Amino acid sequence: MSELRAKIRVDSGLVSCAVDRRLFGSFVEHLGRAIYGGVYQPGHSSADESGFRTDVLDLVRDLRVPIIRYPGGNYVSAYKWEDAVGPVDQRPRRMDLAWKAVEPNTIGLDEFYRWAQKAGSDVMMALNLGTRGIEDARNFVEYCNHAGGLYWSDLRRSHGREEPYGFRVWCLGNEMDGPWQIGCKTAEEYGKLAGEVAKALKLFDPSLELVVCGSSGPGMPTFPQWEATVLEYCYDHVDYISLHTYARKEGDDLRSFLAESVRFENFIKAVEGTIQFVKAKKRSKKDVKISVDEWNVWYHSIGKESDDDLWQVGRRLLEDVYTLEDALVVGCFLIVLLRHADSVRMACLAQLVNTIAPIMADPEGAAWRQTIYYPFLHCSLFARGEVLETRVDSPHYESAAYGSIPFVDCVGILRAEKREIAFFCVNRHETDDAQALVKLAGFSGASVIEHIVLSAPDPLATNSREAPDRVRPRTVSAATIDGDSLTACLAPLSWNVIRVAYKGREE
Ligand code: AHR
Repeated sequence: MSELRAKIRVDSGLVSCAVDRRLFGSFVEHLGRAIYGGVYQPGHSSADESGFRTDVLDLVRDLRVPIIRYPGGNYVSAYKWEDAVGPVDQRPRRMDLAWKAVEPNTIGLDEFYRWAQKAGSDVMMALNLGTRGIEDARNFVEYCNHAGGLYWSDLRRSHGREEPYGFRVWCLGNEMDGPWQIGCKTAEEYGKLAGEVAKALKLFDPSLELVVCGSSGPGMPTFPQWEATVLEYCYDHVDYISLHTYARKEGDDLRSFLAESVRFENFIKAVEGTIQFVKAKKRSKKDVKISVDEWNVWYHSIGKESDDDLWQVGRRLLEDVYTLEDALVVGCFLIVLLRHADSVRMACLAQLVNTIAPIMADPEGAAWRQTIYYPFLHCSLFARGEVLETRVDSPHYESAAYGSIPFVDCVGILRAEKREIAFFCVNRHETDDAQALVKLAGFSGASVIEHIVLSAPDPLATNSREAPDRVRPRTVSAATIDGDSLTACLAPLSWNVIRVAYKGREE
């Protein structure tokens, strides 16, 4: 038996909150080959009558993504939505300064909406608050969501779309704290503008769900004062504050890389605290929630992009090829999101196709699943329920970047209507199995349904066009239950899903 033992405890009566299904959202930006050459590739052998790749669509559908953020990202900060509506052959080609590409506007608002419908996803729309402001936001929302009889809504109808799109969630700009952002602002400038845009949109429709920009990452020099200042301007008018984060591996420091989720969790805790601070200061009864509307691993492609295709449509950008290690970090991030599901109500894996994505599409061939596809898939399928307060007592290791880190992390999700618990566990140890000893307090008649493992002999293993299934999950027999004690062997560097059925539950 392994020396590495993690004691885990859940209690049938200790449920912290329901998981909002929008925790498993994603993001598609007009960036690289996400749209042109990913979502859309007329002439590809799998393309449907609209030019959408059905092989990509099938992989997206399997992920059951409830909501997709669109159209950016950095791209949105100079976005002119009027270019993206109306007859396709009359739409202008524009320079996309964010990604030094050409935007032909072949895929515009209506086309993306129809693609998202085929994917089974809602759209989270982002507004341009970089180069534009209240007037354009108001017009755009009327174009999208008003029934008709007014100038902009009638324009939509004249474009052939009778029914409003009815987008519910709107992001008030993107990463406005970032110097790289077109039209970036100080917290005061942005907070005031976002507050006024939010006020105008809520006058149009109080049921809209509005997301104000938080920091682009915990390393930003203005974090966390940015959140405090922006919320002081906007608190009464917005529903969410965003949080963006990307994990990266420095050199070969795997132990620190696997600890990036601890940095992420501290980031969330700081934003939770800042929300509470502003709420108290305003004597407010309302709770602003968190939207982690960009998160992922992103480092493989940084600094490696070519200038050969500058100002081309669909140039190759941010095409990270993900390893098993990266999938474990994504798994750790998912555990953190679930642990904070009370305050984090929406999250978007950035992104979905080709650019820092779980799905890659070969222009001449097939689409395949990257390693990170799997933990996201597992949570999207099995983490729909309620979060059990999960106590994890694991041995620790020292990481250079983040200090003492537990080898094992875990969260349990109660799926009461199915009489099932799903445990999501990571073993960060490079060479040793970990024994997870899980106490199922208050549950009776428990049995293992399945134990799914994602691991690989080589932690740097990737999937590719030639070997699309090199890293894929397996079902193993490494978990047993005796009474209310579950014992599971977690392989070195592994992501695990252990699904447990039960007969009785004390409430
Ligand atoms: O997701 C890639 C980019 O990362 C987005 O465009 C931007 O918002 C972030 O910096």
